[in-house]
Amino acid sequence: MRKLPWKRWTQRQKLKATKAKTVLLGVTGGIAAYKACEIVRRLDEHGLAVQVVMTEAATRFISPLTLATLTGRPVWTDEFPQGVGTPASAQDIIAHIGLAEQADAFVVAPATANTIAKLAHGIADNLLTSTALAWRGPALVAPAMNHRMYDNPATQENLQALLQLGYIEIEPEEGWLACGETGRGRLASTGRIVSSVLRAIQGREGQLGGKRVVVTAGGTREPLDPVRFISNASTGALALKCASALAAEGAHIDLVCGAGVNPELLEEVPAEVTPVKTAAEMKSAIEEKIEGCDALLMLAAVADYAPAPAAQKIKKSGRETLNLELQRTEDILWGLRERREFVRIGVSLETEDATNRAGAKLRDKGLDAIIAVDFRADEAPYGDASIRAAVLTGEGEHLPLELRAKTELAGEIAHLTAILLDNKEKQR
Ligand SMILES: Cc1cc2nc3c(=O)[nH]c(=O)nc-3n(C[C@H](O)[C@H](O)[C@H](O)COP(=O)(O)O)c2cc1C
Repeated sequence: MRKLPWKRWTQRQKLKATKAKTVLLGVTGGIAAYKACEIVRRLDEHGLAVQVVMTEAATRFISPLTLATLTGRPVWTDEFPQGVGTPASAQDIIAHIGLAEQADAFVVAPATANTIAKLAHGIADNLLTSTALAWRGPALVAPAMNHRMYDNPATQENLQALLQLGYIEIEPEEGWLACGETGRGRLASTGRIVSSVLRAIQGREGQLGGKRVVVTAGGTREPLDPVRFISNASTGALALKCASALAAEGAHIDLVCGAGVNPELLEEVPAEVTPVKTAAEMKSAIEEKIEGCDALLMLAAVADYAPAPAAQKIKKSGRETLNLELQRTEDILWGLRERREFVRIGVSLETEDATNRAGAKLRDKGLDAIIAVDFRADEAPYGDASIRAAVLTGEGEHLPLELRAKTELAGEIAHLTAILLDNKEKQR
């Protein structure tokens, strides 16, 4: 296969490289402030950079050092930094303006009743509230407080005022509160916060704005009888990250989701989800969703063989061995080899000769690109954060075979999808 270095390949493309999207995370002084650590970690898992700005009260609950370590960036807390008046501090003095210009979404989580009141009335008496006033992009608040504070008409009116200003409320949940009482006021789940942020970024102009991408994830389950099935170990981790990366570039995502996918991770992905179990269900869901789509990322691990299921539970009495006869399932991507009107990207997982075999599948199925996974259970088992993979296109090796973070690979795949789509449109 002809090798084409990635650098030269990109130079010929007019599209600029995908820049990591940045989320400005405002943390305020409530007991749920510690949950900001998990929010940062999950946003990072979706390939988003996070810049934290904290109120003084928030620093009483959680150390800025913790959040600086997790984000790899200094945490902004002080509107009036040390050494004001020196040239070096000029940058810091206008930090809130800079912050407000750089990020792609602004989310206050957790948001105290106090900060909600300030935001609703345009009060700018700390770095977080000043930043909020200068902010011109998608803004979200995730309130967290005692249920009487939340239900108080003052707070409710302030939240209404925030909605009028264009804020999105990530509503709190019912449940046990840190004060020992039960009611509505508990910070929304991390999954809901992350998916709301991703949806807000999705709504902005990106390389894939206005495009619809079908992504398939997870494994399939082929029933042996009413209570048993044959499956594989797929967790859909790479597919979910690809869906998030594509959404962050503005694409609408139709996610056809098979078995084995962690529901909490699924909740974070801003996608319209169609759940399926068997290879046959996967095929009909894909056939329905691809009509009018711009790209298909076939990342699910679909069974190659399936049994004819027994009507009743298979009995073990009188049997020392059990022979199963399996039938080839239909190769979904091969069946779509003539559908050149949309971008088709597949995946090929092998335990030997991964790149060559993936290359053969790419040509056989007429794909635009394929992810060649060299699976080694001892190095990167199923569900791991890393994967040994290469990416091939019709023009040659796009990314070489190496162990890389799934988040990083997902970002590359989203960018490649945008390039392939752009090329396809030029050919029309
Ligand atoms: C132990 C403790 C827990 C608190 N938890 C909350 C809370 O969950 N939600 C809230 O709105 N205020 C809570 N408060 C009150 C805020 O800390 C207080 O209103 C503060 O001024 C908020 O400042 P900030 O909005 O600038 O972060 C708590 C106070 C204390 C002492």
